[in-house]
Amino acid sequence: MPDLPKRTLGRTGLEVTALGYGAMELRGGPRGRQISEEEAGRILNAVLDSGINFIDTSIDYGMAEERIGRHIAHRRDEYYLASKCACLVGPAADEERPPGQRGGRHVYTRENVIAGVEQSLRRMNTDHLDLVQVHGSPSKQELEDGGVVEAMLDLKAEGKVRFIGMSSTGSNLRDHIAMGVFDEFQIPYSCLQRGHEDAIAEAAAAGAGVVVRGGAARGAPSDDERNRARGAEAAGIWEKADLDGLLGGMSRMEFVVRFTATHPDASTNIVGTLNPEHLAENIEAVSHGPLPPDLYAAAKHRLKAAGSQPE
Ligand SMILES: NC(=O)c1ccc[n+]([C@@H]2O[C@H](COP(=O)([O-])OP(=O)(O)OC[C@H]3O[C@@H](n4cnc5c(N)ncnc54)[C@H](OP(=O)(O)O)[C@@H]3O)[C@@H](O)[C@H]2O)c1
Repeated sequence: MPDLPKRTLGRTGLEVTALGYGAMELRGGPRGRQISEEEAGRILNAVLDSGINFIDTSIDYGMAEERIGRHIAHRRDEYYLASKCACLVGPAADEERPPGQRGGRHVYTRENVIAGVEQSLRRMNTDHLDLVQVHGSPSKQELEDGGVVEAMLDLKAEGKVRFIGMSSTGSNLRDHIAMGVFDEFQIPYSCLQRGHEDAIAEAAAAGAGVVVRGGAARGAPSDDERNRARGAEAAGIWEKADLDGLLGGMSRMEFVVRFTATHPDASTNIVGTLNPEHLAENIEAVSHGPLPPDLYAAAKHRLKAAGSQPE
């Protein structure tokens, strides 16, 4: 297995592998893919065996937290663990919740934030999260009204979380950066979705670490039929930009994953996968390092013409 490069996650100082693991695919239930406990255990252990040291999850990802607790809690010193808060606490399975509490609703109150972190600690069989991120990118006003940041800082003072972050998007992101309290931002970004490219640089300039999500473009440009079918719009940008003409022997997914890793301020890219071959492919890609500067510039030029550019 090739060595994964590591990068510093902003002011947290955590040295994270440039490829992380997004555990959303482990959610199961009506919205996720059905896998056995054995398969869940196999992929989580393969992630750690490959050297990945950063795992992102959420209360909202169905069975994911319980599966992390069940299958890799005994290897807790091998990974940084990030989860989310302000998601509703209660049964992990959506179908076991009352109708008004399904589908990732968020409640931005001190009580719910604290109850959520305590539930995550129990489910993942650990005494601390390395990072807790507010889920759902609420407005600054919502955060202030509910005392969310104070609750997170209290959890930090108690040692239940080491750093606090925000899963942020759109116009709220710049407000969140200006608040100056978040150690990290989780931001969607890929070559086919470059809207937050400049905001990532702004977050890093303010000292925060940046975790990219969506940085494999959900596999849309790949040969994998399921993932191609789910990402028709992204695949359309790929075709329009004629990125095949720039590959020079790389696979499409190597290009996508390396493009994300070439952003100088993206500390890690939490790609989710249930497929050990995809995991190996992504590790190999990231181990090849950033794209060469001339190729990166040419790709950005073509992507802009195809409609994927910073906003
Ligand atoms: N904060 C938020 O609101 C939020 C929202 C969404 C996601 N997230 C986090 O971000 C993580 C990743 O997000 P994402 O799922 O949106 O984006 P992603 O990482 O770009 O895509 C994951 C998808 O890509 C496929 N894939 C991965 N590697 C591949 C490869 N080499 N070839 C072909 N297909 C490949 C996977 O399918 P296979 O299983 O078939 O490989 C999976 O369906 C999640 O797990 C979660 O932790 C956060």
